[in-house]
Amino acid sequence: MAWKICFIIVFIPIILHCVFGDHDLCPSRKKTSIGYTCQKACTKDQDCPKKKLKCFCDGDCGMSCVTPRSSCPWPVIHENANISLKQETWNFGDQIIVRCHPGFKMANGQEMAQSRCQGDKKWSVTAPCDVVSTCDEPPTIENGYLVKNGHLIKGALVQFKCSPGYRLEGPVYTECLENKTWSNSAPSCKKIFCPPPPEIKEGILVAVKKTEYEVSEVIYYMCKRNFFMDGSHSVTCMTNGQWSDGPYCRERCKVTVQRSQVIYRGQKVWVTEIDEGLVHHSENVAFFCRNKTQACSYTASSQCFDGVLKHPECYEEPTWVQYTFFSKNLVSKISSCQEI
Ligand SMILES: *[C@@H]1O[C@H](CO)[C@@H](O)[C@H](O)[C@H]1NC(C)=O
Ligand SMILES: *[C@@H]1O[C@H](CO)[C@@H](O)[C@H](O)[C@H]1NC(C)=O
Ligand SMILES: *[C@@H]1O[C@H](CO)[C@@H](O)[C@H](O)[C@H]1NC(C)=O
Repeated sequence: MAWKICFIIVFIPIILHCVFGDHDLCPSRKKTSIGYTCQKACTKDQDCPKKKLKCFCDGDCGMSCVTPRSSCPWPVIHENANISLKQETWNFGDQIIVRCHPGFKMANGQEMAQSRCQGDKKWSVTAPCDVVSTCDEPPTIENGYLVKNGHLIKGALVQFKCSPGYRLEGPVYTECLENKTWSNSAPSCKKIFCPPPPEIKEGILVAVKKTEYEVSEVIYYMCKRNFFMDGSHSVTCMTNGQWSDGPYCRERCKVTVQRSQVIYRGQKVWVTEIDEGLVHHSENVAFFCRNKTQACSYTASSQCFDGVLKHPECYEEPTWVQYTFFSKNLVSKISSCQEI
């Protein structure tokens, strides 16, 4: 048992150190470190050109060859700020705390920062405290909300948004000005209504008539008798104040031929046998056509669309004489081209 505990206490930290090492805690060198001179990069002390240089982590410069005993200037005088040492010394890696005087802030809106003595013998935070005007919270809006990014310092933009079902009237943005006021006043969020839903030709509205309808209200339509409903049987009031697409009420089609047989609903019928001579919207009617060279018949289909049923081009209406005296030779009576 004892050796196990010993292993845990003694070896695990060593193993972790070997696996992860100190290097992994140090950020890799960033290309853009403004006002910051990076020293020679290294991974171990032997990489450094002089013996007094050691390989240490130097902030955003990453592992660098530095003089561990080098010092940064002390005392530090910063306008509009109090500076204090975090430790007794001001050597490489040591830290100072910068506190802005009341009424002053750093560019990021903070009042306090830690500054580190860098490998270039300079403190990392250089020009910290300035008169930064901050605006009060912008006015809230009823049925809406604000989109803020970061601190409400000069130049900060706040976006106004309305809750779903509400329309924004007024400015979309407001900006924090130097004199601590906002450039724009808050907009208002007006409730969105839809106007009465549109009339549909040959359709009936199944609803109580109102002058305005709320968002997401649903209204149903019916089509008059013998009209076919094409599309959604309901419309919804959308967040843009408009109705979603409604249906069409499609008319039946008159089969205008008279002296012919057609194939309708899978049956070969005389047109006079079709109820009222009308077929429904989107139904198919197959007409017989004659192949004159082969003297046989074939069919060509046509679809009823909202009251219109066109004949196929190959169809020919028989004359009264052909129909009355030579009905055996009508195209629907002769043999089909497929049988030949
Ligand atoms: C700055 O230091 C002075 C003197 O030590 C002290 O009176 C003052 O409260 C400090 N101000 C801040 C903001 O820390
Ligand atoms: C703040 O500044 C803006 C623009 O410069 C100006 O229109 C506004 O009147 C000023 N407000 C106050 C309270 O001074
Ligand atoms: C008639 O049938 C023949 C042979 O099947 C074919 O080549 C010809 O194109 C057809 N003519 C018409 C008008 O369909």
